[in-house]
Amino acid sequence: MTSLQKKRMSFTPLLPKVCDALDRIAFCGRGETASIGDAGKIKGYFPNTFGRPILYPIERQKRVQKPLKVGVVFSGGPAAGGHNVITALFDSLRSLHPESCLVGFLDGPLGIIEGKYKDLPQKCIDLYRNQGGFDMIGSGRTKIEGDAQLMQSFDTIQRLQLDGLVIIGGDDSNTNVAVLAEYCMQRGSAVRIVGVPKTIDGDLKSPLVEISFGFHSACQTYSELIGNIARDGRSSKKYTHFIKLMGRSASHVALECALQTNPNLTLIGEEILEKKQSLKEIVGQIADLVEKRGNMGKNYSIILIPEGLIEFVIEIKVLIEELNTLLSQGRGEEALSAEAKNTLRFFPKDLQRQLLLDRDPHGNIQLSHIQTESLLSSMVEKELQKRPSFKGKFRVVHHFFGYEGRSGFPTDFDATYCYALGYVATLLIKEGHSGYMSCVRHLTKDPREWGICGVPITSLMHLEVRKGKRKPVVRKALVDLHGKPFKALVQCRSHLLLHDDYIYPGPIQFGEDGSVASIPRSL
Ligand code: FBP
Repeated sequence: MTSLQKKRMSFTPLLPKVCDALDRIAFCGRGETASIGDAGKIKGYFPNTFGRPILYPIERQKRVQKPLKVGVVFSGGPAAGGHNVITALFDSLRSLHPESCLVGFLDGPLGIIEGKYKDLPQKCIDLYRNQGGFDMIGSGRTKIEGDAQLMQSFDTIQRLQLDGLVIIGGDDSNTNVAVLAEYCMQRGSAVRIVGVPKTIDGDLKSPLVEISFGFHSACQTYSELIGNIARDGRSSKKYTHFIKLMGRSASHVALECALQTNPNLTLIGEEILEKKQSLKEIVGQIADLVEKRGNMGKNYSIILIPEGLIEFVIEIKVLIEELNTLLSQGRGEEALSAEAKNTLRFFPKDLQRQLLLDRDPHGNIQLSHIQTESLLSSMVEKELQKRPSFKGKFRVVHHFFGYEGRSGFPTDFDATYCYALGYVATLLIKEGHSGYMSCVRHLTKDPREWGICGVPITSLMHLEVRKGKRKPVVRKALVDLHGKPFKALVQCRSHLLLHDDYIYPGPIQFGEDGSVASIPRSL
């Protein structure tokens, strides 16, 4: 272990006051919830778990008489802080009963289906306190669907006699939570299936789910790198940097990094869709920037591109929707409309292949594999060649910041947030609530003042076309164009085009005392 790893192991996350003694609080709610959309249909899919109330803590002494046995699994891409959810589960379960125990399912939901797990004793838990990654038990993207997989998962839960199962994941993984909770309840099982909001993408949010964990650490990592590149740009004055940022469809990561670093241009997918901007228009916008700056003698620029950009460009969106339907019907690209065929033919062969074939188990396009940054830069180059008015130079460097932001040390914010999320998950299990998401609120306050609640996952769902069929899923939250973070960008962006007001955030989490307190700008 490095000295930094050791130092981080000794960091003690603050707990919200309300979690100080879990045996002295209960989780209660009144009234009914609906879903974000398609309530009638969602109720049909989830007759037992739909409509349950939002839960808030109240003081009520309730001792846990027998030890609890809980399983935990990481689902989907890593996000910094995940290990602290597990360490908190362990600590909180032990605080309720000293013989309570935790098992970790290996390599994602497949571990539940196949019954592959390991015990997580204190010795193992202590090694991972405040450490990055998901390597304590691994992760995976298997979607639990279809009768066979549901039954196998149910068998595992029964065989291990679990009181609770905590699934740490993003929107699709929390859909898994709702499906499995409903399935187990229909079979008369009292197991509590609980979700924890994880994803660097920041797209799992609602008024009560303020942010997903991992977003802050990832954006801090990327912002450090963007700041460094900006400083290099300003020093060497040579290159236009096209920086693609991970984050799937939504542009939250690009927006947060823009607020942290002040690049010259940040494309926001959701705005592009609203303005129905075509690829040609986007290329024109970038070429204008390069031309103006080049003609001022500034042959360098910093341009942020969200990973999901192409899904929002109107002609590509149409193409992807048509392709998704055809693929789900087992038909090929020859059945595309003439317009969609034209769009497809326009792209380089590699991109054509990615659009045609690359899908994850949930039916999502593998956006991280698509080289939008080089597609855009080559189109900008062609556009600039057509402009005699351009007097500058256009030399390009491409970057893709993605995986390097997912598994580093969690920021203090993520370490503390995750620890609280783990406690709330235990409270949900102790109180017998299934199909709920663990939520921690008021995150801009001091952690001791954070609030907690339990949100029924069906309340976050609507129907979406997946693999050609309308399916109930947790809705992805896209960037709100009326929200504060986007407005903050709009306010400064025309100034940033020509001025170099770059911010250099520097190494992310650690000051001299081992910690720097900060919170996401998007909150
Ligand atoms: P999750 O939704 O699982 O948290 O995924 C996060 C993410 O990092 C996306 O930003 C990215 O598009 C995707 O995972 C990459 O997937 P993979 O790890 O399978 O390459």
